[in-house]
Amino acid sequence: MKYSSYLSLVKEWKTCEKCPLGKTAYKHVMGRGRLDADFLFIGEGPGRTEDLEGIPFVGQVGQLLEEALKQAYPEFLKRSFFANLVACRPCDSLRGPNRAPTAVEVKTCSPRLEKILEIIKPKAVILLGKTPQLLFKSGGTAEIFNFYHPSYIL
Ligand code: URA
Repeated sequence: MKYSSYLSLVKEWKTCEKCPLGKTAYKHVMGRGRLDADFLFIGEGPGRTEDLEGIPFVGQVGQLLEEALKQAYPEFLKRSFFANLVACRPCDSLRGPNRAPTAVEVKTCSPRLEKILEIIKPKAVILLGKTPQLLFKSGGTAEIFNFYHPSYIL
């Protein structure tokens, strides 16, 4: 049930162009991890590596996060799901640098994140950095935790 709902979500959003980020994205980046996860980590948006691979938190920042989680609690990864406020790399042009997503971009992409929350029903949502901490609106029944964005440590 969770799996088919998640597949429909991916199908619905993988070609989204509701905001300009969908037009510059190489790949739309949905989520990564277990659909029965207890912990949902939410970052800003995909970086270049994630944009190329279509998977969140697989670049340098993601590797640091995974390593920290493994060291803190080896079972963490098995119980986690990773997603971002927006599905597409926030940038002003194809070759331009990454930037934080705007409030409008986050709002436009929020039905996707709400659906992810509805499917996973995590016990805790961990907001990575100030953009998710300012702009994430809908934790449902999950407990919300604020944490540093791993890029701050890098
Ligand atoms: N930073 C994020 O916020 N999300 C990613 O997926 C990668 C880097």
